Amino acid sequence: MKTKKIDRSKFNLPDAKKARKRLEAAKIIKKAYVFNENMKDFGKGKTFNIRTYGCQSNVRDSETLKGICHDMGYTWTDDIYNADLVILNTCAIRENAENKVFGEFGLLKASKTKNPNMILGMTGCMGQSEAVVNKILTKYQHVDFVMGTHNIHELANIIERVRYEKQMVVDVWSQEGNVIEDTPVARDNNIKAWVNIMYGCDNFCTYCIVPYTRGKIRSRQVEDIVAEVNDLIKQGYKEVTLLGQNVNSYGIDLENKVTFAELLEKVAQTGIKRLRFATSNPWNWDNKIIDIAKQYDNVMPYFHLPIQSGNENILFKMNRQMKIDDYIAKVQYIRDNLPSCAITTDLIVGFPNETDAEFEDTLKLYDKIQYDNAYTFIYSKRENTPAAVMEDNTDKKVKKERLARLNELVKKYASLNNQKYVDQVVEVLVEGPSKSNPNKLCGYSREWKVVNFEGKAPVGSFAKVKITSASRFSLNGKEVTK
Ligand code: 5AD
Ligand code: SF4
Repeated sequence: MKTKKIDRSKFNLPDAKKARKRLEAAKIIKKAYVFNENMKDFGKGKTFNIRTYGCQSNVRDSETLKGICHDMGYTWTDDIYNADLVILNTCAIRENAENKVFGEFGLLKASKTKNPNMILGMTGCMGQSEAVVNKILTKYQHVDFVMGTHNIHELANIIERVRYEKQMVVDVWSQEGNVIEDTPVARDNNIKAWVNIMYGCDNFCTYCIVPYTRGKIRSRQVEDIVAEVNDLIKQGYKEVTLLGQNVNSYGIDLENKVTFAELLEKVAQTGIKRLRFATSNPWNWDNKIIDIAKQYDNVMPYFHLPIQSGNENILFKMNRQMKIDDYIAKVQYIRDNLPSCAITTDLIVGFPNETDAEFEDTLKLYDKIQYDNAYTFIYSKRENTPAAVMEDNTDKKVKKERLARLNELVKKYASLNNQKYVDQVVEVLVEGPSKSNPNKLCGYSREWKVVNFEGKAPVGSFAKVKITSASRFSLNGKEVTK
């Protein structure tokens, strides 16, 4: 393959050493987003598409990118292969997430050949990785720009550089800075909204790339979060999900110390109809969260509490020092106070040198808690994380077998838990027609169960639905008036 000569002095490349550092606390910069007026009509008559990979933080970031694209005059198209501007907002959490992105860049090469004016870019967690950016520079030279997670508000400026510079633009900030308030947003949904309460993570679980790709903890101020939720209520939103990599660490970096439970109460007091949050490291989960959820009916009885492993030695190696009994006690506190709640978790199998006995402990914990559902993964080695240099002699085949065994349990308890709803009446926030049957409606219950039902309730309203049957994935029922 012919490789273009590149002037590297123009690049701002990712740097793993810098990304690991935690220096000063972040500043909160209000009205920091200044739209580049030169780019005002750049997208007029042109289309754009953003493909989002990974977690809800990326989904929310894509809404900001979308807002900036609208500011430039672009119009959304679903047809990614014929769009004038395509952004892949990427995820680096596991190797297969990265492979999907490289595959998509491969497919988009033909579109770029057909339309040489097409602008193709990468944002998100993969942009923060040295190895990924080097691969893009050598093997994916049809990519026009690479940014990371920290400078998405700079999108219009980057595209302006793409317009004038004769080579790929790489601008990745390894040492993240501040909390940038008042960036534009074009939300995907007009009933449910994501609200960032913090950025980054300082937990440094040994397998996890997030503290490097998303940087240190930067909490937003309570009043900014509350103002955003109040504004969403005015716009007609019914549900808000508060987002953070570990919401239980919210506020520890703020000058006026405030806990997540205190924030949750303030947001509940706005009167938003439904309030959720994600995600929670159980290590610093505070039972006060449940006291608030019990007091405020708009805090939904659904909790995602990723434990990752049922074995304390593995948890220690993961830098998630936690006693399994303490975890069980926290779950018990939730269930004692909110008996109708649903609880889910994340689990990793095949962490370096995980033994059969250690894996069995994960199955035992699962049998004990009987989760509503779980997201299960085979450990994936992430460069520059502490676990990447741990000895790992467990066979890949064994890891796959463990995952399959665990998934059997997940399926079993998902079905059993859903069966409990049969003959009960649940409240559903109606989102639109059901995907499996357009004559039915679909929405989520308070416990985050997908409910397909016969009824006439309008989109955005709350319907009472009597459940008539349940599967592993969803509940089915009929709208009732009382
Ligand atoms: N390998 C496998 N799974 C991982 N997760 C995070 N990092 C890794 C990794 N290196 C999982 C954890 C986390 C979820 C978002 O992704 O279970 O909770
Ligand atoms: Fe990763 Fe652990 Fe932070 Fe979650 S708490 S983002 S798993 S380092």
